[in-house]
Amino acid sequence: MLSLKGSVRKHLIALVGFGTVAQGLCKILLEKRDLLKRDHQFEFEIVAVSTRSRGTMFHPAGLSLSYLNYLAQNKVPFVENLKEWDAEDMIRESNATVVIELAHSNMQDAEPAITHCRTAFKTGKHIICGNKGPAAVAYSQLKALAKKRGCAFLNEATVLSGTPTLGFYKNSLRGNPISRVRGILNGATNFILSEMEAGSSYDEAIQQAEKRGYLEAEKHADVEGVDAQAKLAILANELFDLTLELQDIKRVGISALTQVHIEAARRAGKRWKLVATLSNEGDNIVAHVEPEELDLSDPLAHVTGSMNAITFSTDHLGDVTITGPGAGGEETGYAVLSDLLTLNTGVYS
Ligand SMILES: NC(=O)c1ccc[n+]([C@@H]2O[C@H](COP(=O)([O-])OP(=O)(O)OC[C@H]3O[C@@H](n4cnc5c(N)ncnc54)[C@H](OP(=O)(O)O)[C@@H]3O)[C@@H](O)[C@H]2O)c1
Repeated sequence: MLSLKGSVRKHLIALVGFGTVAQGLCKILLEKRDLLKRDHQFEFEIVAVSTRSRGTMFHPAGLSLSYLNYLAQNKVPFVENLKEWDAEDMIRESNATVVIELAHSNMQDAEPAITHCRTAFKTGKHIICGNKGPAAVAYSQLKALAKKRGCAFLNEATVLSGTPTLGFYKNSLRGNPISRVRGILNGATNFILSEMEAGSSYDEAIQQAEKRGYLEAEKHADVEGVDAQAKLAILANELFDLTLELQDIKRVGISALTQVHIEAARRAGKRWKLVATLSNEGDNIVAHVEPEELDLSDPLAHVTGSMNAITFSTDHLGDVTITGPGAGGEETGYAVLSDLLTLNTGVYS
């Protein structure tokens, strides 16, 4: 009988960072190991994990996933298979075939993550990022270096967490050019605006968002729109092959919105949302992140809480909107898994 399934490929994974997303990914990989091999011909070992404060673990044949999950749940120091390596040493020296960058996103200069990506490509290793810095700040240089070295540079987790965005565009919208995307790309600000609609003041809503772990350590990045701005820069590269500096994207956050604005919108049958817009028609590029009063007929107006959404304005289908989770360890871990499965197909340019 003709089998359409290819041969099993084995990937040796190194993790930079072992926080919320890395731990979510490990949980999924532990649960799905058999399914991934059976249905996707995907096999893996996690050979190395590097953190800033817990050190680096390495075993060339693979670390125990159950033990990694124990470490995730118990927050105890690393004690086995220790190596005197920082993340860059780990990338250079380990036998990993793919490096997953899950350290904090730094939108100033995106270091040390850019160095991590360069080191990986120079040593023939693929990169999958959840960290937004490299793709927001240095996409075209890194993509070119990856291509030169025959490596993948994949970023599904950076835009809408686990909600398929880049893969949806590249696979499901093939042959259907898009002229514009508009989205709610930041879950924390959407949650804050939803709380304000439910009657909370801006400060109370911020406190709620902090309590639920929605805000980045640098909450300015969320509420002033820097996080959404970085995601728009990544979308410009991935969707339109367009390099935008972050400062080229006009940005206004939500910190000036008060109950007065929220109430006035409600009376007018509208709703405030932090909307990121990118269009590329002819020579006319529009890129901005700003609060907008949306009519309730707009699908984005109905995206509440920490959910994210994006509307693609397409050639043949008109507007297509997808909505789903914009944050979370397992949700974002799933986006990383989808990039691993893309890598496994061998088609990733
Ligand atoms: N959480 C989400 O829902 C989500 C969604 C989409 C994208 N992301 C992005 O995914 C990345 C990971 O997010 P997270 O929520 O997992 O973050 P997190 O819980 O704060 O974990 C970050 C991890 O990175 C490690 N780290 C920081 N600097 C490092 C360095 N120089 N070398 C090695 N390790 C380093 C930290 O180590 P120490 O703990 O020892 O400092 C920690 O283990 C971030 O860039 C984030 O913006 C997150």
